[in-house]
Amino acid sequence: MKCTPHTLQQLKGKRPIVSVTAYDALTARYADEAGVDILLVGDSVGNTLLGLPTTVPVTLDMILHHAAAVARAQPSALVVADIPFAEAHFDFRRLLRSAQRLMQDAGVDAVKIEGGETLAPKIARLVDAGVPVWGHIGLQPQQVKRLGRYKKFGINPAETEQLIADARALEAAGCFSIVLELVDPAAAEAITAAVRIPTVGIGAGSGCDGQVLVVTDLLGLTLGPVPSFAKAFARAGEVYREAFSAYRNAVLERRFPAASLPQKSVEKRGKGR
Ligand code: KIV
Repeated sequence: MKCTPHTLQQLKGKRPIVSVTAYDALTARYADEAGVDILLVGDSVGNTLLGLPTTVPVTLDMILHHAAAVARAQPSALVVADIPFAEAHFDFRRLLRSAQRLMQDAGVDAVKIEGGETLAPKIARLVDAGVPVWGHIGLQPQQVKRLGRYKKFGINPAETEQLIADARALEAAGCFSIVLELVDPAAAEAITAAVRIPTVGIGAGSGCDGQVLVVTDLLGLTLGPVPSFAKAFARAGEVYREAFSAYRNAVLERRFPAASLPQKSVEKRGKGR
């Protein structure tokens, strides 16, 4: 059954929401088969797959390309795409147009927007237009150039109070859920208790209503530093390395391809696999 914003809201207090990023149809299908609730086409595609230093250079066209691939997998999971850097800060018409392109052209179910109280009025208008919105507060990686680093939020009472105000404003604006990124676990628990919509944490402890992970971290594919809160549930990087070496060696040693191709393989390729 298709997961909807309504389904997710019903899960609060019942069972944790499970979310993972996905940037292509293949990964989306594997994650969907596992029963993940939300597939997030995050702007993290920039620094995880596209070789970019941060999410700041990620454009709407890049997100559209990856979001369309994920939507083509026709998952049961809710497909959410990020509104990329600065887009939400132009006028409302441009934000609505971005959401429209993501929903109509790429086929996603909802959008995610980084920002709190100050963006709430625009988010309310977007929701009014029929766009389901996933909020995102705490660390907002699109702000990294301003912040100068990736840092934890909710580490003092003033910050926690602001986060709670942000979360309440997003709830009032009609967000169906809120991502809490790199939020102190005690603050994340307080935010989770302060709103009726579910919170989904990343680096925010176990007190949220769900968890989201970046797929390359989850699979053990990330090259370079992995955030301390992330957990690799597989060692796919090692599997890749071994497979590429085995293939290279087989070609160099003329063990692959075999002298004659089995008929079945030829037929399969002919069907345009
Ligand atoms: O872009 C992304 O992957 C995200 C998650 C870290 C929540 O926003």
